[in-house]
Amino acid sequence: MATPTGSPTIPKHPRAQVLPESQRLWNEIPYGDYIDPDHNPYLNLHRSWGRPVLTSTQAPACRGAWDQEFGRKAPLNVEIGTGNGFFFSGMAESHPEQNWLGIEIRFKRVILTAKKLRAECTESNSRICRYDASALSDLFTPGEIDTLYINHPDPWDKERWAKNRLLGPEFLDKIAILMAPGAELRIKTDHLVNVDAVLEHIAGRPFELTARCDDVNGKGAPWAGDVVTNYQRKFLVKGLPVYALRLRRS
Ligand SMILES: C[S@@+](CC[C@H](N)C(=O)[O-])C[C@H]1O[C@@H](n2cnc3c(N)ncnc32)[C@H](O)[C@@H]1O
Repeated sequence: MATPTGSPTIPKHPRAQVLPESQRLWNEIPYGDYIDPDHNPYLNLHRSWGRPVLTSTQAPACRGAWDQEFGRKAPLNVEIGTGNGFFFSGMAESHPEQNWLGIEIRFKRVILTAKKLRAECTESNSRICRYDASALSDLFTPGEIDTLYINHPDPWDKERWAKNRLLGPEFLDKIAILMAPGAELRIKTDHLVNVDAVLEHIAGRPFELTARCDDVNGKGAPWAGDVVTNYQRKFLVKGLPVYALRLRRS
């Protein structure tokens, strides 16, 4: 079983109110070992939920063995940052022949996702784990991911926050190892900076752009069977653009 190595800290969003106690917990207590049950009501709930929820201690035990966790051999689809789980549960429902793993850092959103998986009766082909996507190699062996979805990653839209953005060169290096040859990376974002960053940083890396769409809400995603995400809907309502990139791990 792999030992979780990811950072126990989360970047503090400038607009977020982070109480000193919760900041201390984030900073000092290792992954999955939060001891204060009152810290967050969803913390205990996510521990006691059982499948399809995996805690930060249980998920790394599945590294290299996701087929066993799902009880069958099937393509492994991963979504980073499931949020409320609209997209994730919708995709798991429409593709029951595939295995689906969601990764979400916030306890409440893990539970919201789990509730949708239950409502859609997709608990057998899906798992949602509470984990930090910056430590993905705790969860997967090289080549284990068949399709990776990233929908509306947190924008960190000021230049001084750029280091917090998910879609940077370090992340692309990590996923290049964890994705199978021929695997797909499917990104939707409202933030053009993300599109430009990915296109810049795939140069010299084993990714090939196979499709791009600058108006997903008008034209649809450049892959079949897509589901609108919660954040995507907000941009749809406001009439603002959503971009998509489809990339292939060569
Ligand atoms: C802007 S929301 C988008 C939610 C959803 N994908 C959608 O499109 O509606 C970004 C999500 O990513 C999650 N997230 C941010 N950083 C993360 C990380 N390092 N690991 C896992 N999830 C993360 C957040 O908690 C949040 O739920």
